[in-house]
Amino acid sequence: MQTGKFITFEGIEGVGKSTNIAHLTQAIERRGHTVLTTREPGGTPMAERIRELVAEHGDEAMPDIAELLLVFASRALHVNNVIRPALAAGTWVICDRFTDSSRAYQGGGRGLPQEDINLLAKWVHGDLRPDLTILLDAPVETGMSRAGQRGAPDRWELERSEFFMRVRATYLQLAEAEPDRFIIVDATQDLATVQQAIGAIADAL
Ligand code: TMP
Repeated sequence: MQTGKFITFEGIEGVGKSTNIAHLTQAIERRGHTVLTTREPGGTPMAERIRELVAEHGDEAMPDIAELLLVFASRALHVNNVIRPALAAGTWVICDRFTDSSRAYQGGGRGLPQEDINLLAKWVHGDLRPDLTILLDAPVETGMSRAGQRGAPDRWELERSEFFMRVRATYLQLAEAEPDRFIIVDATQDLATVQQAIGAIADAL
């Protein structure tokens, strides 16, 4: 059987990942494929518990290196227990964030070395890399004002706009470095226009 395709969505908070993931999922399902949508950190029961740990803000400090190792620990569970088996069974996997989030947030945002992140990526998921990464891009102010309308902020959402500017800049650098894998969608456009772009991406798959 043919293996499924692995598609990831990336972007800062508030760029509309969830809505657009649902839109792409429907478009691919209409073409007769089975699709699994999942997310990081998380995607398995144990990985979701790690997500809670890493997202909460309690009294104990979270060193950057601990944050990095926790997101990769959750990724190891997710890749081995969910993503690889699904792809092997011919299911398409659409994932809300993957290793580019570590490069953008822990690398760009926190300033951890990209070489170390790439080493962990190699260790945790070897040759597994997304067939396609859709980067929903918007200025930090746009994303933050949309994200601010949601519930209680997690540890990342408490960061200042400079942090998210570094995250966004890193995403754009990653997209520039791998133009064959990334498609950048301008998330400041109205929803209908963004969904049209997503539909065109689905048609080209
Ligand atoms: P989300 O609700 O947009 O999925 O938020 C998850 C948060 O996790 C988001 O602020 C980015 C952060 N994150 C990292 O910092 N590193 C990672 O590797 C992943 C997958 C997420």
